[in-house]
Amino acid sequence: MLVSKRILLGITGGIAAYKTTFLTRLLIQAGAEVRIVMTPASADFVSPLTLATLSKNEVLSSFVREEDGTVDWNNHVELGLWADLMLIAPATANTLSRMASGACDNLLLACYLSAKCPVFVAPAMDLDMYKHPSTQKSLKTLMDYGNSVIPAESGELASGLIGEGRMAEPETIVAHLQAALRAKQPFSGKKILITAGPTYEAIDPVRFIGNHSSGKMGYALAEAAAAMGAEVILVSGPTALKIADPQIRVIPVVSAVEMHTESRRYFKEMDIVIGAAAVADYRPEHPASEKLKKTGDSMQINLVRNPDIIASLGREKTGQFLVGFALETENELAYAKKKLKEKNLDAIVLNSLRDTGAGFGSDTNKVTFIDKNSEITPFELKTKAEVATDLLHEIHKRLKD
Ligand code: CTP
Repeated sequence: MLVSKRILLGITGGIAAYKTTFLTRLLIQAGAEVRIVMTPASADFVSPLTLATLSKNEVLSSFVREEDGTVDWNNHVELGLWADLMLIAPATANTLSRMASGACDNLLLACYLSAKCPVFVAPAMDLDMYKHPSTQKSLKTLMDYGNSVIPAESGELASGLIGEGRMAEPETIVAHLQAALRAKQPFSGKKILITAGPTYEAIDPVRFIGNHSSGKMGYALAEAAAAMGAEVILVSGPTALKIADPQIRVIPVVSAVEMHTESRRYFKEMDIVIGAAAVADYRPEHPASEKLKKTGDSMQINLVRNPDIIASLGREKTGQFLVGFALETENELAYAKKKLKEKNLDAIVLNSLRDTGAGFGSDTNKVTFIDKNSEITPFELKTKAEVATDLLHEIHKRLKD
């Protein structure tokens, strides 16, 4: 959620400012770009040099900077517009009150007034200050402005008193930001199951029938869906690919029968299912339990049909939006539409093997999205990550809520 997000961190003068070193590290580790504006008082509690080192950016605190005889100004408007998200942590009672009233006599407040992005405040102060009606009024005013408050926590305070007023822990603050960003995503609250990769159909313990699917398209779909806020279950045949996003649960399978069983296990609770796997249509009827020894000049293996996973889900569906893929070499549109209808899909993604740069193993793909009303949306050759985002947008447009 925070990857490449530009975060303007405002630090004000409270003892909790020391925790912003950990907070900055967590934000950087989560992939965010962090710029820091401090009130002059906050530098008594945490070193600007430490924060500059951790954030990999210079730390600003005054409107004007004088260097080697030249005078320049720190452009608060540029900073306010640069940010995807502004976080003020810790936010003292003084700063909260000045934000609420529109005061603007330090760089942090000027950035706040210039920011067009979502603003979060993490209050930190002594318990009686936190409870005071004027502080609560400031917080209410900020919420009325559309800002988000990350509530202070209870615990031991710097004064020695015990109660509400401690700044939320850095991990909690980061989780708040992530949850808020996720909630704004198009697939927030949606569950998506994606099948990906090849299936291996055992001949004996060491040999199998498989195909050249790399799984790249299915994995790109899973990553794009998670980035768009979905909770993803990726039922994956054997691939060399790895997933790091905690929003994606990988269910590893080997054969079509296993992929079918696992897909059915989760199907009922899903909102969307995308069949991107290259499932083997047949499997050896009697896989040998021991390694087969060569005998004559030829051999025969009897194959039996595998379940058609997406078609079986198409028969069972109770409102899920079902998307299949069709890899075709001739009469592409006609064959794809036929599969869409026969498998009771809501949409199908056509891959034509006639298009160079499309298909197995490559990092690019060229697809056409066809929905059940025969609306056809062709796309240019793009990276599989871009194709994934395009496809998810097409699906999103057609969801009923
Ligand atoms: N599919 C599936 N289970 C199978 C075969 C295919 O779920 N046993 C899904 C694929 O994941 C894909 C779609 O069905 O989403 C289309 O599969 P395709 O490769 O076109 O194969 P078939 O439908 O088997 O048709 P063909 O006769 O062209 O092989």
